[in-house]
Amino acid sequence: MTFDITFSKTSKKKADALIVCVSAGNKLAAGSEPLDKETKAFAERALEKSASFKGKTGQTLVTLLPAKASYDYLVLLGLGEPEKMTAQEAEKAGGKLYAALDDRNFKSADLLVDEGCKDKGLIAAHLAVGAKLRSYRFEVYKSEKKDDEPKQKPERLYVVTSAERDAEKIFKRESQTIKGVFFARDVVNEPPNVIYPYAYANRILEELKPYGVEIEILDDKKLVKNGFGALMAVGQGSANPPCVVIMRWNGLGKESKAKPVALVGKGVTFDTGGISLKPGAGMDEMKMDMGGSAAVVGTIKSLALRKAKVNAVGIIGVVENMPSDRAYRPADILKSYSGKTIEVLNTDAEGRLVLADILSYVQKLYKPQVIIDLATLTGAIIVALGHEYCGTFVNNDKLWGELDESAKAVGEKLWRMPLDEVFKKEMESDTADLQNIGKSGRDAGSCTAAGFLWHFIEGDTPWAHLDIAGTAWIKKDRETTPKFGTGFGVRLLDRWIADHYE
Ligand code: BES
Ligand code: MN
Ligand code: ZN
Repeated sequence: MTFDITFSKTSKKKADALIVCVSAGNKLAAGSEPLDKETKAFAERALEKSASFKGKTGQTLVTLLPAKASYDYLVLLGLGEPEKMTAQEAEKAGGKLYAALDDRNFKSADLLVDEGCKDKGLIAAHLAVGAKLRSYRFEVYKSEKKDDEPKQKPERLYVVTSAERDAEKIFKRESQTIKGVFFARDVVNEPPNVIYPYAYANRILEELKPYGVEIEILDDKKLVKNGFGALMAVGQGSANPPCVVIMRWNGLGKESKAKPVALVGKGVTFDTGGISLKPGAGMDEMKMDMGGSAAVVGTIKSLALRKAKVNAVGIIGVVENMPSDRAYRPADILKSYSGKTIEVLNTDAEGRLVLADILSYVQKLYKPQVIIDLATLTGAIIVALGHEYCGTFVNNDKLWGELDESAKAVGEKLWRMPLDEVFKKEMESDTADLQNIGKSGRDAGSCTAAGFLWHFIEGDTPWAHLDIAGTAWIKKDRETTPKFGTGFGVRLLDRWIADHYE
């Protein structure tokens, strides 16, 4: 069952629950529809008697209504200071509201939006966006529920506001992006025996082609022939051969000569570490090592759905990193697509090898005006920044300014990290042009990884590298993001393109 959200001026009074907004200090808000006397008195008494409910943003208080009322339940939703509320705060409140409805097994609810909000259309829309984002579920592998399990999921939210047209317009636009976010979450959550390289490529073809995205799949034979020596080495230990998927969204029309925006993603469908094998505990989480590629395919889907007026090219390198008798080894020297040779010192530093080849390829073929790569590249970025901030390396201050602004607008947090010649130098090898881990071992692990990638950026093309190892996957529910695959990057990139490249 999907979770549907509709907007209207009046309520039909046919839902399980009525949701009324409350501001800090437990002041009942004025909805666009006045509450009937009994419900109002009931709500005021509930507020007075509750010791813990303070009307804070996203806080909820649920009570049963008397038998004669139009609804079974009353939900009081805290909005803090509604006259100052931002879109992001509204999303968090909407996400928490969804969780509360889900917790209580409510199937449907009417939400009377506070008329006192500064921009009530915007707030109504973003309450809905937050609820929708939180409603994501990945349940393809769960067998049918038995009858004795009463679990009922929310199916409908009716948002009641006098600004229903504005709200609907904003929500519609955001819904397209959310579809991209959900697709990204889906492919991250899928197990690695389902999303192995060719299967993943086919899934993308199925999902994006109907919306007019041009898709090209470079198979392993083509990759060998074309000299993708670094990427192919990473994949050679697996029975599932690698591929590269190129997605073109030509929103400016076929004839347009505009240079595209390039989005580049690491798509390691499973990272065992290879011969430099990872420890067993928690290795299952390495199915998320294609999170960067998921952000790229999710963004392309959003662009296509909303027919974005931009030329964009998405390219992802899709490989499985396995140990075997055919696997690449520490000490191997590889020839990358660029011609630069790379000495492998650790087969677990594989993402940068995959990215090296596709970064060179996308520059050679598409001459992009700007490049963003996303990759679950280093454990070190989790040590540095945890799971809230994405480490961001940028060679251009203007591009950093754009990304920072869009990140703040959507609430996907970025933190700028140092790109420095020192780290570039650290990646030079004694026997080959480059080596795949830094000379000083684990020190500044995320920075040396970025330094390695920098060797494959030509000239001064604006480029940003987003290390999403900490943000692509979470183990606890967040306001608008249920645990596991987050779809991090889709809202950010979609917004960044809308604001600066359309
Ligand atoms: N995929 C990992 C990075 C990672 C770690 C992603 C934890 C998500 C969560 C990457 O391929 C890797 O193994 N990196 C090594 C690099 C090291 C060998 C220089 C790491 O971080 O330990
Ligand atoms: Mn690895
Ligand atoms: Zn990896």
